[in-house]
Amino acid sequence: MVSTANTHTHGDLADAGSNSFDWVDEASEESFPASDAPAWPASASTQARPQLQVLVDANRVAAYPLSATLIRLYGGDFGLPTTCLIANFVSSVDGVVALGPDHEHSGSAISGANPGDHLVMGLLRASADAVLIGAGTLRATPDHRWTAEAIYPAATNEFRELRRRLGRADHPRLAVVTARGDIDVHHPGLNDGGLIFTTDAGAEQLRGRIGANVSLRPLGRGPTIEMHAVLDALRDEGCNVVLTEGGPRLVGQLVRARLLDELFLTISPVLFGRSSATPREGLIEGVSFGASDAAKLDLRSVRHHLGYLFLRYSCRTRSLP
Ligand SMILES: NC(=O)c1ccc[n+]([C@@H]2O[C@H](COP(=O)([O-])OP(=O)(O)OC[C@H]3O[C@@H](n4cnc5c(N)ncnc54)[C@H](OP(=O)(O)O)[C@@H]3O)[C@@H](O)[C@H]2O)c1
Repeated sequence: MVSTANTHTHGDLADAGSNSFDWVDEASEESFPASDAPAWPASASTQARPQLQVLVDANRVAAYPLSATLIRLYGGDFGLPTTCLIANFVSSVDGVVALGPDHEHSGSAISGANPGDHLVMGLLRASADAVLIGAGTLRATPDHRWTAEAIYPAATNEFRELRRRLGRADHPRLAVVTARGDIDVHHPGLNDGGLIFTTDAGAEQLRGRIGANVSLRPLGRGPTIEMHAVLDALRDEGCNVVLTEGGPRLVGQLVRARLLDELFLTISPVLFGRSSATPREGLIEGVSFGASDAAKLDLRSVRHHLGYLFLRYSCRTRSLP
């Protein structure tokens, strides 16, 4: 629900002006690409200090030592389990989270750079030891940094103080998953202690090209790597609170492996649609479940700001087969 300071990657504030959507009209199918969209309310992109309105809050986790400002903006206490994997996405009302390979910073286009979304993204990043993304998301957001202040600079001091009180490093480490090793090793997001989890073949592609500040972690000879191995490797690095900002293919595997503990989902008040020419991704891609093995969620919190909904779910990971 939160970041493109560009992922939900949801996007940076630098993207905040790109609020247009292309309305694609086909004979029998309609979709709404990102260049013609209805204008966002002016306040959505200009209100730097949103105050989220709490509609439901059934969260039972112990509260973090947030500043009074963060408590006011978020609409109350916030905390995460000591060890957890959480996901953060922004979606249109019709379930679109990515507009397709031609669009960089899809998340920002979908969220309209809503400051409430950026606030939640910032809060989650400020809480995380590591931000875990797939290589597709890294490629789609070439200029992004996955830090709290990059997405919500208005609370930079509050986020820094929160990390200090939580005993976190200055910034979460960026961890990227790639099978092929086809990534920009000089991406600015990686240059502050980044981690690359890959196959042995991917490591061959990357070895000798990465900077001294980036760590390469080959995790097996197969065509892909196991999500359990990625999480174990992150825990070995001391990363107990891991935030994934997608994309849908990576998160699909994390859900299939029953590793996801919580989902923070921003619902943006917009419809994008899909068509055969513009298939577009939903929250989870590459895996599907039936009625009996669907990943069940429990609603923990609902907040509201300017027509946007900020949902927090816990995943019933332990009870699933
Ligand atoms: N709305 C939102 O909140 C949001 C959030 C995040 C992303 N997005 C959007 O989603 C789109 C990208 O999503 P995506 O699903 O295409 O990409 P993705 O999930 O970010 O990354 C997929 C890539 O990750 C690597 N990977 C995934 N599973 C792997 C495994 N088990 N072993 C090894 N490598 C693995 C592969 O990289 P290689 O191809 O390098 O081998 C794969 O192609 C972008 O448009 C982005 O803007 C939106």
